[in-house]
Amino acid sequence: MVVNLSLQSKVEIKSNQAVRKIVLAGNWKMHKTQVESLEFVQKFKSEIENTEEGREIVLCAPFTSLSVMSKNLHGSRIQLGAQNIHWEDKGAYTGEISGDMLTEIGISYVVVGHSERRQYFGETDQTVNLRLKSAQKHGITPILCVGETKEQRDTGATEKIIINQLKEDLIDIDQSNLVIAYEPIWAIGTGDTCESIEANRVIGVIRQQLKNKNVSIQYGGSVKPNNIDEIMTQSEIDGVLVGGASLEPASFARIANYKIS
Ligand code: 13P
Repeated sequence: MVVNLSLQSKVEIKSNQAVRKIVLAGNWKMHKTQVESLEFVQKFKSEIENTEEGREIVLCAPFTSLSVMSKNLHGSRIQLGAQNIHWEDKGAYTGEISGDMLTEIGISYVVVGHSERRQYFGETDQTVNLRLKSAQKHGITPILCVGETKEQRDTGATEKIIINQLKEDLIDIDQSNLVIAYEPIWAIGTGDTCESIEANRVIGVIRQQLKNKNVSIQYGGSVKPNNIDEIMTQSEIDGVLVGGASLEPASFARIANYKIS
C-alpha cells in the first residue's frame, strides 16, 4: 500500500493522544424549527452509533432549537454549537445572545465570522475578534471562519486576504481553545467544492500563521457524502463545516462516518 507520509504522520498524531482533534460540524444556518430539529436528532443518533471514537460531532442549530436539543442530547456524544455570541454578558443589544445564555444550556461551540455574517450583517474583523474573546471567556470553543471571494481568488489575493483576516481576528486570542474553518466563499452553497488538494494547501498556509500548530482546521464549502472521503484524506484537514448536507440525518451521518482507504 502506498502511504502518503504526511497523512501517515497526521494519523499517528491523531491516534497518539489526538493532538489535532477531528471536528465534523453541521451549520444549519436558518433552518429547522424545534420539531424538525428533534426529528433530525432522533434519526441521526442511531446513524452514528458506530462512528469512530475521537471524531467530534457538532450540530450548530438555530438559537430557538438549542435548548430543547440540549435536553434531548444529554449523555450523547453529539456536541451543540450556536451560530453567534455577543461580546457583552448582558445589556441593551436587541437580537443578540450572550455567552451566559449559551453556557446555561450546555453549548460547547459557536460559529464566529461566517461569511454570511460578514456579508449580510456587517460583521467586521474587529467584531469577530470581540466575539471570539467572549466565547473563550465562557469556555466555549469558537469556530472561526475565514475565506476569500471568487474575485479575490481570481486576482491572486487568496493568501493575502486570509492572512489578514487571521491577523485581525486572532489578536489576543487563546489558540488552545480554537477551531478554524477555511470556507472559500465561492464554494459555499454552490456545489462548486474547492479541490481537496487546494483546500489542503490553503489550510497549510493558515497553519503557518498560527502559534499553536495543533489547532484543528476544517474545510467548508459544498462538502457532501460523495466528496467527504477525499477531503478527509488530506493531511492538513482536520474536519469539515457543513451547511446543506448537514440538514438530512443520513447525509450528515455519512459525512461523520467518512472512510479513509
Ligand atoms: P454548504 O455546505 O451548504 O456549502 O455551506 C457551507 C457553510 O457555509 C458552512 O458553514
